[in-house]
Amino acid sequence: MLVIKTVKKMREEIARIRKNGLNLGFVPTMGALHEGHLSLIRKSVSENSITVASVFVNPIQFGKNEDLSKYPRPFDADKRKLEKNGCSLLFLPSPNEMYKERLTTIHVEDLTEKLCGLKRPGHFDGVTTVVAKLFNIISPDRAYFGEKDFQQYKVLNKMNEDLNFGIKIVPCPIIREIDGLAMSSRNIYLNKKERKNAPLVYDKLKAGAASLKKGINPALVIKKIMAEISTIEGCKTDYVEILDDSNLRKISKNTKKIRIFSAVFFGNTRLIDNIGVKIK
Ligand code: PAJ
Repeated sequence: MLVIKTVKKMREEIARIRKNGLNLGFVPTMGALHEGHLSLIRKSVSENSITVASVFVNPIQFGKNEDLSKYPRPFDADKRKLEKNGCSLLFLPSPNEMYKERLTTIHVEDLTEKLCGLKRPGHFDGVTTVVAKLFNIISPDRAYFGEKDFQQYKVLNKMNEDLNFGIKIVPCPIIREIDGLAMSSRNIYLNKKERKNAPLVYDKLKAGAASLKKGINPALVIKKIMAEISTIEGCKTDYVEILDDSNLRKISKNTKKIRIFSAVFFGNTRLIDNIGVKIK
């Protein structure tokens, strides 16, 4: 696997790949790779001749009091995992390489004005701006995003559509630990007790999904999930929401699929999760 650190060299390598008529799959990440990330890599490898990954802890998507400086950066292990899973090319830029005197921000409306968008002001602008840059540098045929960050997938899908990047955005299912906890680079912050209790949140979401399938009113289901989460030791709800899966708006008579979203805190560690429920 070739590792490239500059935009210039990356463009040259992409041009070489294109000259050979090969298609390109792209998996953007912030590193600290786990099976969730690697499932995206494997999907891309199965669908494209060349898979490019990026590892970049993007400073502009972190809030002031968030974990930018302590975000894990196990580069050697990441490199090994990417190689083992068939990734051909790794883009590994420094913050200086990506941001000189940036005056441009990409902002997607509406989809960013709820869920994590309300709780983490500016976060999605940081995500869309860096992914737009990466899309322009790499110009892949397909790009792979996990449904673990369902709102992020929706926001980036809309950006791709609105700005005519012409990339096929491929959503990929959430990969979980055996006990149901969604894999996340942030799970390592959990202490033993928190790690033991964290999967219980997903149990409550699953129970909520079953209630929705039975036709129970979403507002009541939200209340019930929040009440149940409040019984989990060490866990505090940031939000629980139930929205239309297609547009992240309130459920309407046209809604075919619902999605339950949660964000909780165990100490300072914020964990998000979601579950889809087909109702038609
Ligand atoms: P990061 O959190 O490293 O995630 C990279 C990709 O892996 C995202 O598409 C995310 O949804 C996916 N992913 C993470 N955990 C997953 C899991 N358990 N199952 C399936 N997919 C999972 O998301 C980001 O980085 C950044 O915001 C980024 C898009 C790279 C922009 O900086």
